[in-house]
Amino acid sequence: MANKALIVYFSLSGSTEQVADLLAKISNGTVHPIQVVTPFPEDMYKTNDIAEAQREDHTYPELSGKLPNVADYRIILLGGPVWNGHPATPLLRFLQDVNLGSVPVAPFFTYATDPGDYAKEIDRLLGANSLAALGMADAVVAKTSKATAELQKWWDTVRPR
Ligand SMILES: Cc1cc2nc3c(=O)[nH]c(=O)nc-3n(C[C@H](O)[C@H](O)[C@H](O)COP(=O)(O)O)c2cc1C
Repeated sequence: MANKALIVYFSLSGSTEQVADLLAKISNGTVHPIQVVTPFPEDMYKTNDIAEAQREDHTYPELSGKLPNVADYRIILLGGPVWNGHPATPLLRFLQDVNLGSVPVAPFFTYATDPGDYAKEIDRLLGANSLAALGMADAVVAKTSKATAELQKWWDTVRPR
């Protein structure tokens, strides 16, 4: 177990999930989807309003299911979508709920056109656990061979040795 990668991700519309699945193959890791008790609306503007209110109040959405035992893994790849230039709020809740200990965390994220401050924010939240982040535009996610090549390159820089 101690050699393994855990790919933890939240995905509303499937893009981050596609990346997580590619990373699972590349890293030979285990995936753990983050799920919320109250689903977000499909309308992205409504979801955006809800998420902005959550970020203002620091009341992030309650998660369903068990938290993974992160201490069982050598590295966590933590993925989510960019929401209004920030990490999606379910990821913020995950980071509140889980004790990362000393497990290194490499963040990845997907976005349409503008990743905003995602990388900087997640790096600050992860503190000493933080490894280099990888952002991928949806247009790249849609091209499996290009996406796979970029992810492989990133994995080679962050993977435990
Ligand atoms: C609420 C909301 C806010 C978003 N804000 C941004 C943004 O600020 N910049 C951007 O490039 N894409 C933004 N997007 C697009 C998503 O980041 C992008 O499509 C992402 O790949 C979706 O990942 P998912 O399919 O795993 O949920 C937003 C989408 C939603 C639903």
